[in-house]
This record gives sequence, structure tokens and C-alpha cells, in this order.
Amino acid sequence: MQQNIILNIFVVLNILILKMTKCCVKQNTYQLPTIQCFTCCRFGHVSDKCRSKPRCYKCGQLHSGNTCSVAPENAFLFDHKGINGGNTTNVPLECKIKNETFLIPPQSSFFCGCVKEQCKKLEGSKFDLVIADPPWWNKYIRRLKGANQKLSYSMMYNEDIASIPVKDLLSPNCLIAVWCTNSPSNTAAVKDLIFPSWGVEYVATWYWLKVTVDLEPICEFSFGSQKQPYERLILGKVGDVGKVPEDMLLVSIPSALHSHKPPLLDILSQYINNQNPRTLELFARYLLPNTTSIGYEPLKWQHISLYECVS
Ligand SMILES: C[S@@+](CC[C@H](N)C(=O)[O-])C[C@H]1O[C@@H](n2cnc3c(N)ncnc32)[C@H](O)[C@@H]1O
Ligand SMILES: [Zn+2]
Ligand SMILES: [Zn+2]
Repeated sequence: MQQNIILNIFVVLNILILKMTKCCVKQNTYQLPTIQCFTCCRFGHVSDKCRSKPRCYKCGQLHSGNTCSVAPENAFLFDHKGINGGNTTNVPLECKIKNETFLIPPQSSFFCGCVKEQCKKLEGSKFDLVIADPPWWNKYIRRLKGANQKLSYSMMYNEDIASIPVKDLLSPNCLIAVWCTNSPSNTAAVKDLIFPSWGVEYVATWYWLKVTVDLEPICEFSFGSQKQPYERLILGKVGDVGKVPEDMLLVSIPSALHSHKPPLLDILSQYINNQNPRTLELFARYLLPNTTSIGYEPLKWQHISLYECVS
């Protein structure tokens, strides 16, 4: 597992734009740096150095996350179902939707809703890079579902994921990356069910090792189904792409935001023959430049309160 180590700096330079009807727009430059403060939720410093008022990392309100009873899955919840937007210019913008302000990157677009339905709206579009972070069905979510029926939408069976109409959206030479749990049944489903149904050939499995600020793994390595300090990224392709390394270890300090994955665009675009890859992110919770983001909550981590203005 320790062959190529990339210190993935986990910086998303969210330079934002928007072109939407009926919304206020304002231009600014923002960045989402590596370290995140658990006290105020802002990026760029740690709790010990915090001078801001507490902001809850679970629900986004002005109190400490340590005392909040909101489940992390329910933090920053917005009802954006059916809202689509996008931007074709190169200027960063702020956008107000239902009285909340979000940051929309240049050349990005988003579709809020079920991936199966929203993918159909993209008919005719072709993407060189597809990234998916599915809501895998698992025991933890199943328990939550028992406690709260509303959460039932937030997971999908392997067969459901395989039936997303991704195949028609792939360019002739395309790279596909799927975040996967360490569950053997899920990893097998990607290779034997999901990729074949999407018309994708399996290429490699990479690992994302989550470390503390002292670069120690966030927990012990363990056996069986216990929590691990790493997650898997399973890669597939269609047609010709550059030589993708079989083993790659991505190392980064995870964001305080629940289940937030590091951005892959810079790492993966080197294997694509197109200099400006058209990227599609499925189950997205943030927007990126030159990317189409689809999911129930693609604006979640675009909320203005999470960013610092740098210009
Ligand atoms: C594992 S999270 C994605 C995390 C994201 N990659 C990040 O870094 O923050 C899965 C997301 O998919 C959404 N989701 C679940 N079922 C969906 C569906 N059928 N269609 C669209 N989005 C769905 C969930 O609400 C959740 O936001
Ligand atoms: Zn702080
Ligand atoms: Zn809270």
C-alpha cells in the first residue's frame, strides 16, 4: 500500500461564479485550505489558535459542535430539490438561494435531486472524468434509518448504483473513480456489478489514508469490519487513458465535515488525454471549477459560512 505517496494538500481553490436567474450575485475569491478548526468551523487554523465565536460543525449554528445533538449527517441541510444552476463565465460569484448564500465556482454547474433522474437531464453530454461517492448501504446507516425514517433516502443498494445511467455520459476515453467503503461486498460490487453495467473496465484500487495534524493515522489499523484509518478509491476506464498506477496512497488530514472526501481533479486529470477534462461528480456535496455536480445536496459545502474571503 505504500508505494507512491501523494501528500494531497486538500486545497480547493474555490473561485466561484454563477449565472442563475433571480439571484443576487457578488464577485469574490475564496479558498478552502487544509486545516479546519473544530471550534469555529473555519479553515486555515486549529482550535488552539481560534479567536472566533464557536460555530457548530454539525448543524452550522452559533454554538459548539461538542455540545450539539444534531447528527453530522443532518448538518448544513438545505432543501434544494429541483434547483439547477450553473455558470459559463470565469468570474467568482456569491449566490443567494432561499435566503442562504452559496459560492459557485467558474465553469461549474449543479443539479439537485436523485442521480438517476438528474443524469437523464445530461443526455448528449460526454465527460472525460467521472467521480462518484455513493451512499453505500451499511449497518450504521441502517441503524440511523431505524431512528429516523427521513434518512432512508440517503443510501443505495449496489444494484441501484449499477442502474444509474452513467454509460451514455462517458466520453470514448474516460476515467472513472468510485469512493468505496472497505466492505468486501461493496468493493466486489464495484468490480463485478457496477463497472460492468456502466461499461467500465476495472483498472486499480487506491487508498486514502486519513491522518492527524501530526501525520499519524487517525485510528489503529484493524481486522474485519472495524473502523479503518483509510478508505478506498476504485478506478476504472473506458477506451485509452494514461497509465494509472496500480498502487497509490493518498494521504491527507480529513476535513471536520462529515464524510468529506479530498478533491481528486488535479491528481486524476494527468491520466486523461484531454487538457481540460469535462468532469462529472455524482453524489456531490460541493462544487468545483469545470465540473458538473449532481446529488441531493451539491451546494452543502458551498455555504458562505465555511469560507474565508481572501481578496
Ligand atoms: C457519501 S455522501 C458524498 C460525500 C461527498 N463526496 C463529500 O465529499 O462531501 C453521499 C451523498 O449522496 C446523497 N444521495 C443519497 N442518495 C442519493 C440519490 N439517490 N441521488 C442523489 N444523491 C443522493 C446523500 O444525500 C449525500 O449527500
Ligand atoms: Zn476557529
Ligand atoms: Zn449544532
